[in-house]
Amino acid sequence: PPGLLRRVDEHLGEFLSQKSRFKCFQDNSVSRSSSSGSIATDEGLFEQPELQASSKAVMEKILWRRSLHLRDQQHAWQSSLEGREMLEFRKNLPAYKEKDALLTTISQNQVIIISGETGCGKTTQVPQFILESEIESLRGAVCSIICTQPRRISAMSVSERVASERGEKLGESVGYKVRLEGMKGRDTHLLFCTTGILLRRLLVDRNLKGVTHVIVDEIHERGMNEDFLLIVLKDLLPRRPELRLILMSATLDAELFSSYFGGAQIIYIPGFTHPVKTHFLEDILEMTGYRLTPYNQIDDYGPEKTWKMSKQAPRKRKTQIASTVQDALMAADFNEYSLQTRESLSCWNPDCLGFNLIEFLLVSICESEMPGAILVFMTGWDDISSLKEKLQSHPLLGDPTRVMLLACHGSMASSEQRLIFTEPDKGVRKVVLATNIAETSITINDVVFVLDCGKAKETSYDALNNTPCLLPSWISKVSAQQRRGRAGRVQPGECYHLYPRSVFDSFFEYQLPEILRTPLQSLCLQIKSLKLGSISEFLSRALQSPELLAVQNAIEYLKIIGAFDESENLTVLGRYLTMLPMEPKLGKMLIIGSIFNCLDPILSIVAGFSVRDPFLTPLEKKDAAEAAKSQFSRDHSDHLAIIRAYEGWKEAERNFGGYDFCWKNFLSVQSMKAIDSLRKEFFSLLRDTGLVDEHSNTYNAWSLDERLIRAVICCGLYPGVCSIVHNEKSFSLKTMEDGQVLLYSNSVNARESRIPYPWIVFNEKIKVNSIFLRDSTAISDSMLLLFGGSISKGDQEGHLKMLGGFLEFFMKPDVAETYQKLRTELEELIQMKLLNPTMDLHSHHE
Ligand code: CDP
Ligand code: MG
Repeated sequence: PPGLLRRVDEHLGEFLSQKSRFKCFQDNSVSRSSSSGSIATDEGLFEQPELQASSKAVMEKILWRRSLHLRDQQHAWQSSLEGREMLEFRKNLPAYKEKDALLTTISQNQVIIISGETGCGKTTQVPQFILESEIESLRGAVCSIICTQPRRISAMSVSERVASERGEKLGESVGYKVRLEGMKGRDTHLLFCTTGILLRRLLVDRNLKGVTHVIVDEIHERGMNEDFLLIVLKDLLPRRPELRLILMSATLDAELFSSYFGGAQIIYIPGFTHPVKTHFLEDILEMTGYRLTPYNQIDDYGPEKTWKMSKQAPRKRKTQIASTVQDALMAADFNEYSLQTRESLSCWNPDCLGFNLIEFLLVSICESEMPGAILVFMTGWDDISSLKEKLQSHPLLGDPTRVMLLACHGSMASSEQRLIFTEPDKGVRKVVLATNIAETSITINDVVFVLDCGKAKETSYDALNNTPCLLPSWISKVSAQQRRGRAGRVQPGECYHLYPRSVFDSFFEYQLPEILRTPLQSLCLQIKSLKLGSISEFLSRALQSPELLAVQNAIEYLKIIGAFDESENLTVLGRYLTMLPMEPKLGKMLIIGSIFNCLDPILSIVAGFSVRDPFLTPLEKKDAAEAAKSQFSRDHSDHLAIIRAYEGWKEAERNFGGYDFCWKNFLSVQSMKAIDSLRKEFFSLLRDTGLVDEHSNTYNAWSLDERLIRAVICCGLYPGVCSIVHNEKSFSLKTMEDGQVLLYSNSVNARESRIPYPWIVFNEKIKVNSIFLRDSTAISDSMLLLFGGSISKGDQEGHLKMLGGFLEFFMKPDVAETYQKLRTELEELIQMKLLNPTMDLHSHHE
């Protein structure tokens, strides 16, 4: 009986570590091991012969019984009424028809690649087939299947779906695990997790002991984590010949992956989609009475691929809505469709024609009374929420009895998630505003209409200038086709691409993999913490290797901030940084903030920069919004402004006025709530590193010392520093590498004409046309001299040399000597604390 088994298990569990349990059943290493071991060592548990024989027998019996139990349970479900109904549904999925072929191929090959259209049943069925067949062959209790997803939300929603297809609750045989959340029981044999979670597990369990199948899903997205994971798994395969690796992809670039794994077997799942009628911008404009004409057809002006809008007599009835669209079109600058350079294409913004066109299309679809849900692809969370706000005030679209308006993005709550899959009441139209998450990883069943803005927010990275850029950029042809395909799942559908056909023709075939377009600092830290050897050698084995220069920049940066020593090994600080799941600069700020006992404000800053910008700037109220922001910061710091805004909100929230407070001050309620929960998350991570003792309150002893907070900000952001050059009326900024740089207009410092400090440290510089600095704080000389540089590594010389160009005064021998002495003391203290985290630096503060 299960109850008894559980009790025996619990009893055994006390002295059998997970590891040895699997060792015992995985590779029979029990009988091969030497007999001299002791019980105390982890690996040596079974090395005592008497214990070996008896424990092995007991364990085998238990696992055998548990496997039998799992099979009985599975049979019971399969023969129940609901189970049979569910099976009927599953049998209709294209993946089901390939079930036998899939299972045979998996059993005969170590690596296989599965490619099939979105919605054909890869994610929900393939892991389930494996689980069912393992259970059927009485290996249920010893199999362990891990299926990775690029995003939290898909790991959660898919696991829930699979559990319900098996007639179970989540956390029984099927579970999920994402950062800081999970549902996983002792009998969970199929685990959906984010790629990051599997990478973290590899940190402590390099051979993935006990895991029988690894399924990496959505590999076509070419995220950095997935590309990284593939290198690690490729190395692991020869060490674990019985491990099975299954790669799943929605699009047909399967050969690339196959050849990476030495010609691995590919299985294509033939899909079926209904025809989708495609409209490009020209067709849509025609519906509104306008036509898009290439410049060169009007006159000789401009390059041939530049578009201009020409006004024509409206052909269709001129509705109220259509005239708003026309107004918007007149205002919109069609030069944005210049195809000369991809970079110069402007981004979506609420006042641009995009929003008006979307509103127009939504209304005309709703009025046409053709049934079916509408899926709108937007670039990101921010424009989804501003569009949602705009639509909510519309008489038809904002009426919940007629339209069910939902958002779908990576950071939404699970309750919101579930709504997306629900069927609306009769007569209500479901409209989902989604990021590219709905492109392949989430399937909304009843979609018939797709609106595609043609862009997605992605980071790109300019290695030459060592500058990241974050802009909505045009998607690839494959992505556009994916988006279109979402309309034809249940019946013939329609897709409206909100860009001209010629723009589509200029799209790249595939998106550039993330590893080639983002800074590699966190990745380099990860490579070192997984002890994977030389960074450049390791990355040269990637599916597509990043530029050498990008790798060198990242390594150089990590050396400067003191995470790597000269020979590219992790320093103590570097090891702490690998435990914190955020950019190294923010991680360092947290570590230094906790060492200097001013944790609370630093937590707010780091959480504030890990969420969407909490300061909203609606275009029509830009001035009022910026004034509201600068109210939070009278002291030349965007970072301090976040602290004040958060604290103000928290105070108001206690009196149930949080919403009002946000509304008055142009703050995002969602961001404030997110900061609140991230602060808790980060606090517990720091506690786990040992740097913060939650029972003593010293970590906040200096939280009100603003100078110290600035110094800590400087410590995190260095070498992001530039000098302020004042002239008559205003000031300009210079960095060493780039010369003159500018501030983003939403920075509190951009509104000032004088800044009574000599330096500014900044979060990032971004190249748009000029180089812009985002989020800055003004600091003094002493802060820069004492806290800038590779503090905790003891390289003052290099630091002073770096600043030398600017700091002639401080290079005077006696001044330099005094500072070097102070700095040495400071660095020794930090080093001591990092090595003995429980030490209290409180008494050394002054
Ligand atoms: O991974 P792939 O895109 O190939 O498909 P999937 O996510 O396994 O979804 C297969 C089918 O399961 C979809 O077509 C949906 O009909 C259904 N499904 C669902 O009803 N609810 C979910 N949460 C997920 C999938
Ligand atoms: Mg899928």
